[in-house]
Amino acid sequence: RVEVVINGSSSPAVVDRSNETAKHNIKPAPSTWRHNQTLSLKIRKQILKFLDAEKDISVLKGTLKPGDIIHYIFDRASTMNVSQNLYELLPRTSPLKNKHFRTCAIVGNSGILLNSGCGREIDTHSFVIRCNLAPVQEYAQDVGVKTDLVTMNPSVIQRAFEDLVNETWREKLLQRLHSLNGSILWIPAFMAKGGKERVEWVNELILKHHVNVRTAYPSLRLLHAVRGYWLTNKVHIKRPTTGLLMYTLATRFCNTIYLYGFWPFPRDQNQNPVKYHYYDSLKYGYTSQASPHTMPLEFKALKTLHQQGALKLTVGECD
Ligand code: CTP
Repeated sequence: RVEVVINGSSSPAVVDRSNETAKHNIKPAPSTWRHNQTLSLKIRKQILKFLDAEKDISVLKGTLKPGDIIHYIFDRASTMNVSQNLYELLPRTSPLKNKHFRTCAIVGNSGILLNSGCGREIDTHSFVIRCNLAPVQEYAQDVGVKTDLVTMNPSVIQRAFEDLVNETWREKLLQRLHSLNGSILWIPAFMAKGGKERVEWVNELILKHHVNVRTAYPSLRLLHAVRGYWLTNKVHIKRPTTGLLMYTLATRFCNTIYLYGFWPFPRDQNQNPVKYHYYDSLKYGYTSQASPHTMPLEFKALKTLHQQGALKLTVGECD
């Protein structure tokens, strides 16, 4: 038995991890899964009462000017000034304006993707969303390479690029950014004060090296709006994860949504160990009390939507 917090409350629940995994048993039964178009449209409509992905995906140039003061969403007492660089990188129009896609893939970062062989299937979708600049080239067979939108929490700069301590790390980040090749880079710049410098470093790099990406910085209301939608649907999340944010946004512009790499459990359905991330050595403790996220709870909600046909979760191998 191991101790994990599964509900984000202050009293940690003690659960048997093997039971926890078993509870989430999803049979990879592609032949029996059917898209429920009516339900998807209903969900889109409900979410639109809280947010509009077309608008909330990014603050636009017309709405801010250099020097404006913004209060961080999670650290209301702290503020930032809109820098000249940030202003320059704000889009003039929404990168999702009038966009509609037949199928979208949202690729989470769970180690469940390793040996899945899902790369080819992921790359067939019309729009592919990835999280936190996760590497693709070395894992192409399992995760694919197509990237239309990728998120970047400022913490990634510390975790995956050593806070750009030297030229080697700066170069690594620059290469990764260049490889995005015109896709949308979604940077939550206004969430927490800790990210201030990291966002500035990335902005500077993009401008200095004329990196071909379309930057987007989520609106100030997005997080609360997403949380509000899920709370109304009795999913009591503390702070939505990037993956859940992406699903919520995608409902607006994707007809059918496919999720890969969503598995916040240390064992798979056959009790084999699963890495927290497919590409690094971050441990599961990260989803415990210290983390603002309640991933297993989110997973439960996504699993229900899968069973109802509103989205398709893949947690096993692809055909
Ligand atoms: N995810 C998952 N199971 C895991 C790891 C990730 O379901 N074992 C999903 C989550 O929805 C997560 C997304 O994949 O948001 C991307 O993973 P990650 O980069 O770890 O995202 P966050 O935890 O949201 O980012 P951060 O740690 O910076 O808050």
